[in-house]
Amino acid sequence: MGEPMVRFENVAKRYGALTVLDDLNLDIARNEKVCIIGPSGSGKTTVLRMLMTLERIDGGVIWVDGEPLTHMQKNGQMVPASDRHLRRVRGKIGMVFQHFNLFPHMT
Ligand SMILES: Nc1ncnc2c1ncn2[C@@H]1O[C@H](COP(=O)(O)OP(=O)(O)OP(=O)(O)O)[C@@H](O)[C@H]1O
Ligand SMILES: [Mg+2]
Repeated sequence: MGEPMVRFENVAKRYGALTVLDDLNLDIARNEKVCIIGPSGSGKTTVLRMLMTLERIDGGVIWVDGEPLTHMQKNGQMVPASDRHLRRVRGKIGMVFQHFNLFPHMT
């Protein structure tokens, strides 16, 4: 099995009083392909936005390739990630949009 490529560990996400994700645990193995299916508003896009660091999380830890994305080690403690740490780990993640709005002049 080895280390999961992506791990959501007890992740929580809230918008004000609305809890969108409560204690999400999800492991995705290297080379595994995953579809996220669920009703509109159930939090599918939010999961992807958190992985892209476009949303901060309110609890838990997201791991990428065995290292924390949302957190970093400092003096033996897990502390929230600095912008520098986020940029470095995010460099391992790519996202393809459903519509090709970024480069309309390319096929
Ligand atoms: N920026 C925001 N501020 C407040 N609430 C938000 C915000 N973004 C998302 N939400 C709420 O979080 C919940 C999850 O939204 P999300 O977009 O992740 O759902 P989804 O599963 O992707 O839905 P769809 O199938 O319609 O794309 C919804 O109730 C939505 O209204
Ligand atoms: Mg969506």
